[in-house]
Amino acid sequence: MPLQSRHLLGLEGVSAEEITLILETAASFKEILRRPIPKVPTLRHQTIVNLFFEPSTRTRISFELAEKRLSADSISFATATSSVTKGETLKDTVRNIEAMKIDMVVVRHQASGVPVFLTQCIDAAIINAGDGMHEHPTQGLLDMMTMREKFGRLKGLKVAIVGDIAHSRVAGSNMHGLKTMGAEVMVCGPKTLIPRNIQELGVEVSCSVDDAIAWADVLNVLRIQLERQQAGLFPSVREYHAEFGINKARLQRAKKEITIMHPGPINRGIELESDLADADCSLILEQVTNGVAVRMAVLYLLSGNEEGMAEG
Ligand code: CP
Repeated sequence: MPLQSRHLLGLEGVSAEEITLILETAASFKEILRRPIPKVPTLRHQTIVNLFFEPSTRTRISFELAEKRLSADSISFATATSSVTKGETLKDTVRNIEAMKIDMVVVRHQASGVPVFLTQCIDAAIINAGDGMHEHPTQGLLDMMTMREKFGRLKGLKVAIVGDIAHSRVAGSNMHGLKTMGAEVMVCGPKTLIPRNIQELGVEVSCSVDDAIAWADVLNVLRIQLERQQAGLFPSVREYHAEFGINKARLQRAKKEITIMHPGPINRGIELESDLADADCSLILEQVTNGVAVRMAVLYLLSGNEEGMAEG
C-alpha cells in the first residue's frame, strides 16, 4: 500500500510524504478530468458504498463522480430511505452491506468517531467523509491542493481559519494537514468558539478578524453553524457578522491581496459578504473542482491497485 493506513480516518498522523503523494496523484487525475472522455478503468473491479447519514451536496456528489470517473461500481445510501428508519443499528447496517461483497465504504455521520468504529465492524477500507466535530480529511486535502496550485507551495504559507473552530471538522483537518506540510496556521473567532489549549497544536490564536486579515495570505472562512446561537455561544447573527464577517471594506482597509476560501455551504452575508464569495480573490469553486480529483486520488491510493492510474 502506498499509504501507511488502509483507511483514511483523518489527517492527524498522516505524514507530509503521504499528503504530498495524495496531492500529486490528485494533480494527475485533474489532467485526466480535462480530457474529452474523463474516465479511466482503474477501479473497475472495486465496489464502493457511500453511506451518508447527514446531508451533503459537494462531498457526496464529488465522491460519486470520482467513483464513476474511475469506473468503480458504486451505490449511495440515504438514511431516510433505509432500514435505519426502522431501528436497524449502524453495526448491523454496515455488516449487511459488507455481506454483499464490497471493497470500500465512504461514510459521513453526525457522530465523531463513526469511521473508526466502522473499522472495527467490517473489513472494507473506510474513508471519512466528515464525522461530527472531528475531521473531514478529504476537505482538508482539497483545500491544500487548491492553496498549492495558487501559491506553488504550502510551506511558510500563512492560513487563517476564521469562524467556529470548536465545532468544525474542516478546521480540524486543515490544522493537522497544514501544520504537517509546514504552513503557518492562525485560528480566529469568538473566544467561545475556540477550544482551550488549541495553541498546543502549534497554531496562533486571534479574536480580531482585522489582525487575522493583516497576517494571512489565505482566509479559510468557515460556515457559522446557526444552532450555536441557540446554545448561547455567540449573541446574535448580526453581531457575529459585525465582528467576524469578512467583507470588502475590511479587505480594502488591510491594503493587501488576500485569497478567500470556504468549504461550503456558505451563509451569504453572514460569515462572508456575498459579492466576495464570487470575487476574483475567491477560490471557492476551484475547491469544489479539486474535490473530485482529490477523492479520485484517495480512492485509487487506498484501493491497493498496483497498476498505473489510468490502467484497470
Ligand atoms: N464542504 C462540505 O463538506 O460540503 P457538503 O456538506 O455539501 O458535502
